[in-house]
Amino acid sequence: MGDTAELANGYTLVNDTQYDAGLFLLERLEVHAGMQILDVGCGPGNLTFRLAETVGKKGKVIGIDPSKERIAIAQQKVAPNLSFTEGKAEDLSTFSSESFDIVFVNSTFHWVEDQATALKEFARVLKSGGRLGISGGSGDFEAIHERIKEDILSREPYRRYPEKSGPKFLKQRELEELLDDARFSQRKIVVNTIVKSAKDADAMINWLDTSSSGKTYGGIPLELRPNARAEMKEEWDKVTTEKGIRMDMELLVTVAMKSG
Ligand SMILES: C[S@@+](CC[C@H](N)C(=O)[O-])C[C@H]1O[C@@H](n2cnc3c(N)ncnc32)[C@H](O)[C@@H]1O
Repeated sequence: MGDTAELANGYTLVNDTQYDAGLFLLERLEVHAGMQILDVGCGPGNLTFRLAETVGKKGKVIGIDPSKERIAIAQQKVAPNLSFTEGKAEDLSTFSSESFDIVFVNSTFHWVEDQATALKEFARVLKSGGRLGISGGSGDFEAIHERIKEDILSREPYRRYPEKSGPKFLKQRELEELLDDARFSQRKIVVNTIVKSAKDADAMINWLDTSSSGKTYGGIPLELRPNARAEMKEEWDKVTTEKGIRMDMELLVTVAMKSG
């Protein structure tokens, strides 16, 4: 099942963690007034709007996302230098080569199915000297939500429905290889250690559902989801204290330059 209006709207209420991660990335990208920026996987567009404020009226920001529901929400954010359109990272053919100063990819790259092709597209649309910024989950660190998902989905009857396109959290070594292949030889990767907090199991599951466009349940059919959710809730209850849930996470934050 794909995205829904309910999940897309729900995400707008709970995306502070991704927003803060986006600001961390933005600080490292040295964005200036007048720049042209492509925000890939812009979701509901609140960071895209922030980028548009940063580049000012001489700059231009375009947000793309494959979810029509998320683009519909983003389009409610209006500024003269800001636009949104449906599209995915692997196919940026509507954009000319060398047309952006910055390609911004926040909390999205692990959802991109063909990451190698996407990186080559990012390189193509960047101007020489332009910068790519990616922030997303690290494959060098297993957050509790991954362990709980794997545990539940390996149980009967869920294990009969393997996930077709789950998230791909790259290890730094794997990311470096893909960056090499896309000829991003000048780059810096840092680890952003964050804590995702939620008041209880329901709030955590809601954050995971809305952030993943419903992919929390892998490939299992709709009718099995309520049971799977109840089993997940039991596991989250075990790590809930009187202060709620605090989940450690590590993000890999890449800033890479396209050389001439
Ligand atoms: C967690 S949201 C992040 C949204 C926004 N960048 C933010 O930081 O709030 C992940 C987004 O990735 C989008 N996405 C999934 N697959 C994608 C792909 N192949 N190309 C571009 N975006 C994709 C989803 O539709 C979703 O809006």
